[in-house]
Amino acid sequence: MCGIVGYIGPQEAAPILIQGLKRLEYRGYDSAGVAVINGAGLTVVKRPGKLRELEKALRQAEPTGHCGIAHTRWATHGAPNQVNAHPHTSAAGDIALVHNGILENAEVIRKQLIGEGYSFASETDTEVLVHLIDHLWDDGAPLEDAVVAALRLVDGAYGIAVVSTRDPDKIVVARHGSPLLIGVGRNGEMMTGSDAAAVIALTREVVYLDDGDYAVLKADGYRTFRLEGSEVDRRVHEVTWNLDAIEKGGYEHFMLKEIFEQPTSLRNVLRGRLLEEEGDARLGGIENHQFDLGRMRRMVVMACGTSWHAGLVGEYMIEELARIPVEVEYASEFRYRNPVLEEGTLALAISQSGETADTLAALREAKQRGLSTMGVVNAVGSTIARDTDFGVYLHAGPEIGVASTKAFTSQIVALALFTLYIGRRRHMSVVQGREIVRALQQLPAQVEEVLKLNDEIRALAEEYSDARNFLYLGRGYQFPVALEGALKLKEVSYIHAEGYPAAEMKHGPIALIDDDMPIVVLAPRDPVYQKVVSNIEEMKARNGRIIAVVSDDAPELQGKVDRLIRVPHTIPSLLPVLTTVPLQLLAYHMAILRGGDVDQPRNLAKSVTVE
Ligand code: M6R
Repeated sequence: MCGIVGYIGPQEAAPILIQGLKRLEYRGYDSAGVAVINGAGLTVVKRPGKLRELEKALRQAEPTGHCGIAHTRWATHGAPNQVNAHPHTSAAGDIALVHNGILENAEVIRKQLIGEGYSFASETDTEVLVHLIDHLWDDGAPLEDAVVAALRLVDGAYGIAVVSTRDPDKIVVARHGSPLLIGVGRNGEMMTGSDAAAVIALTREVVYLDDGDYAVLKADGYRTFRLEGSEVDRRVHEVTWNLDAIEKGGYEHFMLKEIFEQPTSLRNVLRGRLLEEEGDARLGGIENHQFDLGRMRRMVVMACGTSWHAGLVGEYMIEELARIPVEVEYASEFRYRNPVLEEGTLALAISQSGETADTLAALREAKQRGLSTMGVVNAVGSTIARDTDFGVYLHAGPEIGVASTKAFTSQIVALALFTLYIGRRRHMSVVQGREIVRALQQLPAQVEEVLKLNDEIRALAEEYSDARNFLYLGRGYQFPVALEGALKLKEVSYIHAEGYPAAEMKHGPIALIDDDMPIVVLAPRDPVYQKVVSNIEEMKARNGRIIAVVSDDAPELQGKVDRLIRVPHTIPSLLPVLTTVPLQLLAYHMAILRGGDVDQPRNLAKSVTVE
C-alpha cells in the first residue's frame, strides 16, 4: 500500500526523500508528496499521478531543509487527486503528516473536530489525524505528546510520520497494523520508511517497530516507546541484500528482471536445505523451534493472491506426499467465517511481503484460537515473519514488480521442502525422499532452460495481443498454475482471463468457447495427462484456439493444438514451477505489446496493508 519515507540529518532532505519514494513507488502510485522543514517554515509539494509528476513540481519548488517526510499513495479514502495526496497539514500549515493504513473512526472524529471549528480540505481519514494532533497539542509540550494523545483516540491501522515547525528538529513515527521501520544512520542522520528499500541507500541498520510503538527520531539518535508510555529497546537488524537487488540491472522492467532471476532465487531457497543421502530437508527455522510434528493432525493455509495459489500447490503436495489434510483459505475470508479449528492444526501463513493485512489478521485469529503458526515469507523481519512461531524464509531478495513472479516459484519450492521434511518424519521412504531431493536440485537449471523460450513466447504474444479474453486450464497440480497464469495476465495486461479446472469446463464454461477464445492448457506429462488430452479434444471440437504447455514431445497433441510450449520434465509436484514460467513471460509480453505499465499496473499496489 502507501509508502512512507522520512529523513533528518545534515543533507538536503528532498533529494533523499525522492530517492526513497522511488524505491517505494511499487507500494502505491496514485499520488506522491513531500514536506520539508527549514527555518522559514514547512514546504509541502504534492502531485497526483506517478512520482515523476512530483519530481517535475520539485524542480520548480526546490524546497530546502534538513528534515522532511514523504509519501506515495494507494488511494483508500477519496479520489487519487492533489487535495487527497499526502502529506496532510494542519490549518496553520505548521504540522505535516503522512499515513499508511485506514482510520476506522475517522468520520466520528471529523464531526467532533468540525464542531470545534476545524475545516477539512480533503476526503481522507489522514487529514482527521493531523487536525486532531493540532487540537490536542498543549502549549510548550513536545510534538510526540500531541501525537500520542491523538493516536490513543483513533481506531484502525496506521504507520505515520509527523513533522512540525513548532518542534522542528525531530520526526515522530508510530505504527499500528501498517509496517514502519527506522533506518539508523552512522553520520548524524536518521531515516524512517515503510520498508528497508526506502532507507538502504543511507544505511543497512534498521529497527522494525512493533504495533503500538512510537519513536522520536533526531539527527543524532532515536528513542522508541510504547503508546502506553514506557520506553522500549528494539533490536537493530542488518539488511542482508544489496542496492542492486532493488535496481533494474539492465532489464527494462522489474517484472522481467524478477522472472529471469528465478534460477538464482530457486538456488537461494534451496541453499543448505537439501540432505541428498538422507533424502531429507534441513529446515533450521522448524528444527530450532522444537515443533511437535507428532501432534500435527491437519493444516490450514492462509494467504492472498499469488501466495494463495502457491498454497493450493502446497495442499496437493502435502496431502499426496506427507499425508496430512490441508485446507487452503483466502485469508480475507478465514477470520470472518468462524472456521472449525481442531487441536493439532498448524496454521501456515504464506506471504511474499509478510505485511498483507488480510493474511496478518487471519494469522492473529489463528493464534488467538491457540494454533501453532508457521510462516513461508520472503521479506526478512516483516510482521508475519515475526508474528509466526517458526517458518521458512524464501531468500528470494526484494520483489519490486507488482506482479509476483519469483516469489511464487520460491514459495512452491519452500513448500516442497516442508513437505519433504514432514513427509520423511511420517511415512515417506528414503527412496522417495531422494527422488524429490534430486528433482529439487535440477530445478534451477531447468528454469534456465524454460527462460530460453522468451523469444518464442514474445512471438506468441504478438499473435494473441488483440485477444479480449483468455482461459487457462489445468488439472491436479496444474490447476493452481492455471489460476496463477490467469491472474498474471489480468493484472498486467488488463485482459479478462479465467483459470479453471480443465474437467469442469463441460459443466458450464465450455459454452464460452469459440475461435475468439484463446485457451492455455497446462498439459505436462503427469498422472492426469491423458485426461487433459481428452479435455483438449473437447475444446478443439468447438473451435477453441489452444496453446498447450507440455513437458515432452506430446505426440498425442501434435497437429491438434495451435501452439505447443515445451518445458523440461520433472516430478508432478514440481512441474508447477516449470509450467508457470512461460505464463509469466506470456503475461509480460502481452502487457508490453498492449502498452501496459507492467511494474505499476493500474489500481494495484505491491503490498496490500489495508483490509
Ligand atoms: O505479499 P503477499 O504475498 O502476502 O501478497 C499477496 C497478494 O497481494 C499478491 O500475491 C498479489 O496477488 C500479487 N499482485 C499477485 O501478482
